[in-house]
Amino acid sequence: MCWMHWLTAPALIGTVGAVLYSQQLKGKERGNVLFLHKSLGLLTAFIAIPRIIGSLTSQHPESFKKGILGTAGKLNHLFLYIFLVVMPSSGILMGYFGGKGLPFFFTTLKGSEKPNESISKKSFWLHKNFGSYAKYLIPLHVGAVGFHLARGEAIFARINPFRKL
Ligand code: HEM
Ligand code: HEM
Repeated sequence: MCWMHWLTAPALIGTVGAVLYSQQLKGKERGNVLFLHKSLGLLTAFIAIPRIIGSLTSQHPESFKKGILGTAGKLNHLFLYIFLVVMPSSGILMGYFGGKGLPFFFTTLKGSEKPNESISKKSFWLHKNFGSYAKYLIPLHVGAVGFHLARGEAIFARINPFRKL
């Protein structure tokens, strides 16, 4: 699960970084960076599936903190998992049912032969609206890690794939 965490993080940060950058661009350049966003988003989906199954079927360590900090940490992790489900799945649904298909780096996986505008529009709405707020979970998560580090607490040991169990 620790390895999965460090596979998810760069893919997800790259996905969000690419879409934010694309919003500063126009025309062909914007299209290219959006292609990268969609490719990284699909890659994140492939990583997220085993990660979520693993998370649901394995034992989690006890909360790092008790009380309000412990609850805040649990909530942040829960919402990050929700983000990891909602964003790739709504992105995939809109690409597939919009008919344009799913870009994946050097290729594009085919979309539905019978595009469904209702599904693709609803998915786009969810993706845009949920994404525009929920992306702040990432800096919140990283900021909380920084907070514990600044207090000299060994937070990284909890997610270190090389640690001896
Ligand atoms: C954007 C991608 C990221 C996602 C989706 C993510 C998600 C998560 C989740 C869900 C957990 C809880 C694990 C569990 O108990 O199931 C976690 C823990 C942790 N993450 Fe991340 N993370 C991301 C990026 C980062 C980054 C960039 C850092 C480093 C600054 C980081 C540092 C940690 C640490 C230290 C823990 C352990 C916290 C604890 O056990 O209380 N994460 N992460
Ligand atoms: C982990 C997976 C994904 C994440 C975290 C993610 C995240 C985001 C975020 C944060 C936004 C911007 C919302 C805003 O305007 O602030 C966005 C927009 C968008 N995403 Fe994704 N996305 C993912 C996967 C996908 C996939 C797989 C596709 C399509 C195949 C896709 C297509 C789009 C499109 C077309 C936009 C609108 C861009 C715009 O109008 O500026 N995304 N996404």
